[in-house]
Amino acid sequence: MVSQEVIRRSALLRKEIAEYDYWYYVKDSPRIPDAEYDKLFRELQALESQYSELCSPDSPTQRVGGKPLDIFLPVRHAVAMLSIRTETDISDQGAIAFDTRVRRELGVSENDLPIEYVCELKFDGLAINLRYEQGVLVQAATRGDGETGEDVTQNIRTIRQIPLSLDGGCPNVLEVRGEVYMARPDFESYNERQRERGLPSLVNPRNGAAGSIRQLDPALAARRRLKFFAYGLGDVQGWTWRTTHKEVLAQLAAWGFPVNDEHRVVQGAQGLVEFHRRIAQKRDQLPFDIDGVVYKVNSLALQAQMGFVSREPRWAVAHKFPAEEQMTVVRDIDIQVGRTGKLTPVAKLEPVFVGGTTVSNATLHNEDETRRKDVRIGDTVIVRRAGDVIPEVVGVVLDRRPAEVGEAFDLCKRLNGKCPVCGSSIVREEGEAAWRCTGGLFCPAQCKEAILHFSSRRALDIEGLGDKLVEQLVDDGIVTTPADLYDKRKLNLHTLASLERMGEKSAQNLLEAIERSRQTTLARFIYALGIRNVGEATAKDLARHFGSLDNIMLADEARLQQVPDVGPVVAQSIFAFFREKHNVDVIQQLRGEDRANVGWTEHTGESIVELPLSGKTFVLTGTLPSMSRDEAKAKLEALGAKVAGSVSKKTNYVVAGAEAGSKLDKARELNITVLDEAKFFELINQAE
Ligand code: IVH
Repeated sequence: MVSQEVIRRSALLRKEIAEYDYWYYVKDSPRIPDAEYDKLFRELQALESQYSELCSPDSPTQRVGGKPLDIFLPVRHAVAMLSIRTETDISDQGAIAFDTRVRRELGVSENDLPIEYVCELKFDGLAINLRYEQGVLVQAATRGDGETGEDVTQNIRTIRQIPLSLDGGCPNVLEVRGEVYMARPDFESYNERQRERGLPSLVNPRNGAAGSIRQLDPALAARRRLKFFAYGLGDVQGWTWRTTHKEVLAQLAAWGFPVNDEHRVVQGAQGLVEFHRRIAQKRDQLPFDIDGVVYKVNSLALQAQMGFVSREPRWAVAHKFPAEEQMTVVRDIDIQVGRTGKLTPVAKLEPVFVGGTTVSNATLHNEDETRRKDVRIGDTVIVRRAGDVIPEVVGVVLDRRPAEVGEAFDLCKRLNGKCPVCGSSIVREEGEAAWRCTGGLFCPAQCKEAILHFSSRRALDIEGLGDKLVEQLVDDGIVTTPADLYDKRKLNLHTLASLERMGEKSAQNLLEAIERSRQTTLARFIYALGIRNVGEATAKDLARHFGSLDNIMLADEARLQQVPDVGPVVAQSIFAFFREKHNVDVIQQLRGEDRANVGWTEHTGESIVELPLSGKTFVLTGTLPSMSRDEAKAKLEALGAKVAGSVSKKTNYVVAGAEAGSKLDKARELNITVLDEAKFFELINQAE
């Protein structure tokens, strides 16, 4: 017999976990530390395994662990899943043509009011129908042919953004439609991991999403982090109060579904054109792929009046952007030397317009990948360029392979075993996918890349130090390590003036930018060092965990692995980096310990230490029950936080006491986390 108390406790745990999942996965703003969350999760798991009566399909513990299926069962859709007519004219004309059609069909003339539309992004993933009965997710199905899809419920459950149950106030039957997709950073890191292990990579995020939803074993789907955007409804029973599509989207968000916030209500053709242009500009910065935008007539009554033609609604259209994949021919295969000596084969292409720019180089990643895809000089290939990532060759169009195609790729043979830049021997260590040059900083290519990385925006952010300039500085022997940038004997107005195309003003600006870069954070500094496998996120984790560079430099691999997300491979890279004498030398020069590298020591002393709340901005408002505002401010500042006077997009937290006024309203409007005194203490205690 399960006691009332256990039933209540497990219900509460489920509710809390679902709530924390929502904040973490949908709002991207965690509400409790991971360890606390894990504790709740484990408590629920323990209760459920002790009392099997407690198990229910909407428990968060049921997201993973389903058994592999033999086949997917067919699902007949209660309401057909339509497709959208596509406007392939990517110019403004595409939008104007749609508005003209809509007005003609509705009998609205140019003199009448403009039609109101909702503009959305056209997500490039897999369409899914989620069916909730009495608020519980009972079935998830693919679109299939529009009439019948496949039951992929088990796989969909693994997507944490998708609620397993909805709070009260939802219809008896609710079908939510939307797109399952793989975000670009998740796609990139998945592929990076696959390549490192010598395993096949995904062609693009859409295949990544569709492929994992089509896996019969849900454990495989769980391994790729998929996401979801809701954009419409299917069968709905017991709910009528809505009149516009915009209201539908707002209601979906209120039920806890992720709704992309780039959607806009606009008036007439002009509004559509502006949306299309604005999003085209923004496309590369979005963290997921889109292949266009979608326009929908906002009024549901007008939608009903317009109806459908051949499975496509007359009230919606997809307006495309330039394709992110194109075919072109490989003219040659070059090999580039990266910052860590990694040798990367690069295809030299017949220039092609893809993803909005002209591309003539595309990465082939490494030797195994080039061989697996069997890319050869003369081949026609598919090139992909999405976001600000480097264009890549995704595959060969074998039907178009010419008779006189080049031979299978062999990196070592092509290079005669030598680095193409410095002539040092090249090696490929066991278990490694990459060949490397053994020249270290002696190799000008590695030295140039190291300096470029060091000064890049997310590292020490030295404006004006671009690749042409670094090339000159290294080739002329003025600078050979990042530390030389701060050495006035090497880099000064005089030496800069000796360079071609370097005016006095730009030389001055560069020196000032270098001067400014002396003040940085520990996290940026670590990232800037260019340690293998240490990206920005790991650098931040290291800074937070160890607090000082010396601590990191002294840590052994076991200690390094105590940092979240640092596994044996990353720990090994960090450890090895600090055991290399030339790396330690460069760091010492940068810190200015053993020579007069003015400025660095003075600033690094305090600024390089990152405190737990460094980089976070707080605003205090209203009266706190047990602490004065000054005390709260001092406490925050001691932990590295900035305390600002007014709320803006840059604010991370608003601490609100009694009688908080307009600042609180502003915080809510901007969706900024608001803390009461209890939550504030919680956060402070965690940070301390
Ligand atoms: S609405 C009645 N909205 O595009 C209209 N579809 O052919 C039904 N898609 O595979 C779809 N983003 O999954 C709609 N914001 C969006 C969309 C979207 C992507 C996909 C959809 C389907 C295809 C439509």
